[in-house]
Amino acid sequence: MTTKLFLNARIFTPFDHGRPSSGDRQGDIQVFPEGALLAKDGLIEAVGSVEEVLRKAEQVSVQLETDCSGLCMIPGFVDPHTHMCFAARRENEFSMRLAGASYMEIHKQGGGILSSVEAVRRASEDELFQVTLENVLSALSFGTTTLEIKSGYGLDTPSELKMLEVIRRISRETPLDIVATFMGAHAIPSCYKDDPESFVDLLVKEMIPEVKVQGIAEFIDVFCEKGFFTPEQSRRIMEAGISAGMIPKIHADEVVDTGGAGLAAQVRSISAEHLLAANPHNLRAMAEAGTIANLLPGTAYSLRKDYADARKMIELGVPVALATDCNPGSCFTESMPFVFGLAVMMMKMTPLEALVASTLNSAYAIKRAHLVGSLSVGKQADFLLVDGESPAIFAYHAGVSPVKEVYKLGEYVA
Ligand code: NIG
Ligand code: FE
Repeated sequence: MTTKLFLNARIFTPFDHGRPSSGDRQGDIQVFPEGALLAKDGLIEAVGSVEEVLRKAEQVSVQLETDCSGLCMIPGFVDPHTHMCFAARRENEFSMRLAGASYMEIHKQGGGILSSVEAVRRASEDELFQVTLENVLSALSFGTTTLEIKSGYGLDTPSELKMLEVIRRISRETPLDIVATFMGAHAIPSCYKDDPESFVDLLVKEMIPEVKVQGIAEFIDVFCEKGFFTPEQSRRIMEAGISAGMIPKIHADEVVDTGGAGLAAQVRSISAEHLLAANPHNLRAMAEAGTIANLLPGTAYSLRKDYADARKMIELGVPVALATDCNPGSCFTESMPFVFGLAVMMMKMTPLEALVASTLNSAYAIKRAHLVGSLSVGKQADFLLVDGESPAIFAYHAGVSPVKEVYKLGEYVA
């Protein structure tokens, strides 16, 4: 039994209304200018003004007191969309893009996702584990305390299971909470390029059932995009995943509008990812269905694309979450502070909206809001001490991480 008291922080935490915050509530934040947090056995026992929390602390014996004067306290970041499990970087492709090649052109030449597939297939489980671990610990140092990681660079049953096994190991061997997503439908492997339907059959008849048997992934994701999976194929894969007990997500309208956002609403996907090219009609359908928009502004930055229309989504009542998309191709960053800064500067979200998007709504996007995402009594004491006056610091102090200390379950971890 350990009880710890953190005093004199300027606390910013989302209000958790029991569902993702949207519209007027997208920036619904509670502020305690002179705040304190009491953590007991890793959970939040009390949070509020110093006065209130001290009153509560008098009833228990406090083992450790930390003075947080001059720092902000916010919940640990929740990154609900990453492809952090990969074997090799693709910096050469980035340079090709800078020289004018498009993401799609590189993919068509056998680069892109398919080159990551070759690297993952060649790598041993230990090699894959080491690269993934490095990415995950870097994310932790930037304040991410809960993280989703997708498979999808294996594209055959043994290699997909190898990735999911590595993700499971990462979850056991690091302090972070890790959530696994099966994304066997990330690209059509070269050997199926003339017969994509047979690959969809393999996904539905072999891979999804095997992932179910292993009980190794909670979510299923599909890359619904021109040149990848059609909306019809995506629907079939998501429905097979749902039948196998997985929760659906979908990469939708990242490059062109194929109607992925509408499909997300129809199949009651928990979230739709990217949405750079989504049309307003389908965004409205998402708002009605309560589908979370997982926005990944680092990808627009890295691909030099127009950013997703976050203001429109908020106006329509779509709950917005933020994620890094960390992957070796379309966006290589582990930094939620970077994504936060882009959301404010390039998508014109307010700092408070971006804070809700990167903590509470992102926790909802991976079904972890009962545990994390806000500094609420009973949730995990996962929080950051930040060198700034307010969450605006993440946009203001550009190109660095203002995160000074990272706490997971009340313990200092980075
Ligand atoms: O979210 N769009 C599909 N998947 C990733 C890119 C993966 C890669 O290029 O390796 C994304 O952008
Ligand atoms: Fe992605």
